[in-house]
Amino acid sequence: MHDRSGRVADAATGRADGPAGGGSGGAAASVDRQPLGAGAVVLRRFAAAVDGVLWEQVQRIEAEAPFRHMETPGGFSMAVAMTNCGALGWVTDRRGYRYDPHDPLGGRPWPPMPTAFWSLATEAAAAAGFERFEPDACLINRYAPRARLSLHRDADERDFAQPIVSVSLGLPATFLFGGLKRSDPSLRVPLEHGDVVVWGGPARMRYHGVLALKDGVDPLLGRQRINLTFRKAG
Ligand code: SIN
Ligand code: FE2
Repeated sequence: MHDRSGRVADAATGRADGPAGGGSGGAAASVDRQPLGAGAVVLRRFAAAVDGVLWEQVQRIEAEAPFRHMETPGGFSMAVAMTNCGALGWVTDRRGYRYDPHDPLGGRPWPPMPTAFWSLATEAAAAAGFERFEPDACLINRYAPRARLSLHRDADERDFAQPIVSVSLGLPATFLFGGLKRSDPSLRVPLEHGDVVVWGGPARMRYHGVLALKDGVDPLLGRQRINLTFRKAG
C-alpha cells in the first residue's frame, strides 16, 4: 500500500454509510456515496483497496493489446489513448464507432477481462443499486497531461438497461456530467484515484466528458490517469 495522505475530503459529499456491495473488491466497511441525480452516483475510493491488482492487470493487457490513439470518423486522432479487454472492445476509425471482438491491431481477440475487473465492476454496480450487471466490455482509457475527452453519450451498446461503471486510477481529473441533451449544463465532479462512477436507468444516456488533465505525478501510476469503463455492449 502506498501513501495517499494528501487526499482532501470533498465537503460536498453526501456521506451515507452502509455495507459495501457484499464482496471483497470494494470499500472495506462502508461506501462513501455522492449522488449525481437519479440513477447516478460516485462511490468514493471504492476501487482503492484493489488498486495494485488493477494496475498490474492494465500493464499485462497493454503488453498484449497496446494503447493507441484511435481515429474518429471525422479523421481526428483522439487525445486519449485506448485499449480494451473482455469479449468486446470499443473501437473508432473512419468507418465509425462500434464494438469489435477483435483488436484491429493484429486481428486477435481482445485480452480476457481479469476476474478482479469483473468483481469490482459488478460489486460497484450492486452498491449503486444495479444488481446482475454483466459487463462484456472494458474500455481502458489513458490520459496523459492535457488530454481531454469531449462531451458524449455512450450509445453504441445494444442494451441501455445495464449501467456504466467507470473506475478512475492515477492522476485526479474533472469529470463533466451533463444531462440528456448536449446543451444541458454539466456538473463538474472531481475524480480521484480509486473513485468509481456508476450511471444507469434514467441517467444511462447522460452526456459526460473529462476536462484536460492537469500535470502531476501519481504515486502508483506516475504522470497519467487510467479510466476503466465497464459496459454490457453485446
Ligand atoms: C468515458 O466516458 O469513456 C471515460 C470517462 C472517464 O475517463 O472518466
Ligand atoms: Fe463515455
